[in-house]
Amino acid sequence: MKLLVINGANLNFLGLRETNIYGEATYLDLVDFLQQIAKKHNIALEIFQTNHEGAIVDKLQEAYHQKFDGIIINPGAYTHYSYAIRDAISSVNIKCVEVHLSNIYNREDFRKISVVKDVCIASFYGKGFESYKEAMLFLNGE
Ligand code: DQA
Repeated sequence: MKLLVINGANLNFLGLRETNIYGEATYLDLVDFLQQIAKKHNIALEIFQTNHEGAIVDKLQEAYHQKFDGIIINPGAYTHYSYAIRDAISSVNIKCVEVHLSNIYNREDFRKISVVKDVCIASFYGKGFESYKEAMLFLNGE
């Protein structure tokens, strides 16, 4: 099983940004957490982070050629308005799962809309790092 994790805008600032919402753990802690799960469950994992919308589109298109079995994506705030990312997800024909650390349905109104939700096969949110774990195990068929 070959999975790609894409983290979007401001996720590199974990541990520094709004710790009351996202917690004290850093982005490197998240990377570590994901790699440990991958190792334990025999998943080949690539992790990518960018603050740029177009770079997410580029990475999704690259994934098409690299034959990933699944993609886990946390687009950050792009979740709520990026039709370009939505279109890229539906273009690549790879199972895609949406993930959020926080519960986007429990916060400001603008966060309650996810424009990528419909092109993903599942969404996991509101459980911090565990949201990613659930997504990885789901795509791994566990
Ligand atoms: C987020 C939720 C988004 O609304 C926000 O813009 C983020 C992080 C999350 O993981 O909870 O940057 O995607």
